[in-house]
Amino acid sequence: MIELTIDNKAVQAEPGETVLQAALRNGIEIPHFCYHPCLSIAGNCRICMVRIKGRPGFHPSCNLPAAPGMEIESDCSDVNAVRKSILQFATLNHPADCPVCDKAGECRLQDYNFKYNGTPSPSIEPKRRQRKFYQINSRIMLDRERCILCSRCVRFTKEISGSGLLGIVERADQSRVERLEQGGVEDPYSDNIIQSCPVGALLSRDFLYKSRVWYLEPVASVCPRCSRGCSVEVWRRQKQWQLRAPGADKNHMAYRISARENPEVNGPWLCNQGFDLHQVINDSVRALAPRLAGAESTLQDALAAAQRLLFEAEKPAAIVSAWGSNEELAAFKSALGSSLTVYTRADREPEAGEVVEDQLLIKADKNPNSYSVEAIFGRRPFAADAGHDVVLVWGDLVDYASLGSAKVIHLATLEPAAGRPAEVLVPISTMFERTGHYTNFEGKVNRFEQVFEKPESVLHAGDLFGRL
Ligand code: SF4
Ligand code: SF4
Ligand code: FES
Repeated sequence: MIELTIDNKAVQAEPGETVLQAALRNGIEIPHFCYHPCLSIAGNCRICMVRIKGRPGFHPSCNLPAAPGMEIESDCSDVNAVRKSILQFATLNHPADCPVCDKAGECRLQDYNFKYNGTPSPSIEPKRRQRKFYQINSRIMLDRERCILCSRCVRFTKEISGSGLLGIVERADQSRVERLEQGGVEDPYSDNIIQSCPVGALLSRDFLYKSRVWYLEPVASVCPRCSRGCSVEVWRRQKQWQLRAPGADKNHMAYRISARENPEVNGPWLCNQGFDLHQVINDSVRALAPRLAGAESTLQDALAAAQRLLFEAEKPAAIVSAWGSNEELAAFKSALGSSLTVYTRADREPEAGEVVEDQLLIKADKNPNSYSVEAIFGRRPFAADAGHDVVLVWGDLVDYASLGSAKVIHLATLEPAAGRPAEVLVPISTMFERTGHYTNFEGKVNRFEQVFEKPESVLHAGDLFGRL
């Protein structure tokens, strides 16, 4: 380890670390725009300037290798004066857009400007006007007036997603981020640039003007849309900002998804399927009413009918859900595992136009917990010719015709397709209405928290198995 001091505090840096990296790892905040731990060093924003005791001038700490015995000053009047002038330069043409900008409340430029500048612009020139809504792709808009040319977005598309979607063209005050010709393809990871842009230049078309971020709060969850199981945050409305009618439905709405950094699973990134997870939560047509042969019933009647069917069955079977949590799978195994023939299946298959698999994050198995299902029950597709007379189906998107003539007890979160109804339908909660754990394709266990209360008419599958 390399010993140095930053602001008179002794810190240790790992070989190859820069002063900024050592500072951040030791809890010393040095402002930075262009530095990102997973991208190459650009060193172009200059806000991370520090002084080395005994040497003239100022140095960008993101590009300064830590060396033994170095004495760094990152919080003194000289350094803060440099930061102030850099912020005055960065805001020279930046519009006073904060009241209408989606990034307000989580914008580095806003925060640093408040902390290190706090004075009106000294310029008497009118601000340069630029294009406000430049379409990057079908999901993202660029407000060029807000861009500080840190190049994080450009480096992401070159170094991480590899799409080469963006570049910076021209020079001086004509410099701007452009969509490049060769980047004509849609980038399946493009929404990461919205999250990593340090200012409000890159805007999600989906989230545009939907809410001020300070009305919202993140809840730790897991993306269930492939077996990578990326760590995500689901943003919901805070309790103290709940709306009364009209608009009360927004209190139970997922507003947006962001990546939750998890170095072992997804780093700081997600694919766009993950960023769209809130739409899946909001737009799902939920199964909310218990049914007997298609007709609405009470929960008691539905459970009694399911018990009767299983009790009277000569050859009952069950199909377990690859969307069930580890806790639910254990509850299923102890309650029903020995009395039924257990089959497994993929609840979700790749959809048309969806990237099936790649080298970065996306996995071909579009289910979050196949690893645990296979570890407990093996891989056993349903055998329609095995002569089962009753099948308990746990999970969604089931074609009852594939179950032959067996009577169906269906535990579903989504409204089943029209057509032949199940003999018994019991609505169950989604993963966002309970806590639990998934195990991803590599055996990494990841916890998800409850985001919303479950509707009264649905049951948690884990509570249900013991009652059958
Ligand atoms: S759009 Fe954002 S991330 Fe891209 S260069 Fe501009 S400020 Fe940086
Ligand atoms: S890679 Fe898989 S788990 Fe990760 S965000 Fe995309 S769909 Fe979700
Ligand atoms: S963070 Fe160091 S120059 Fe931008």
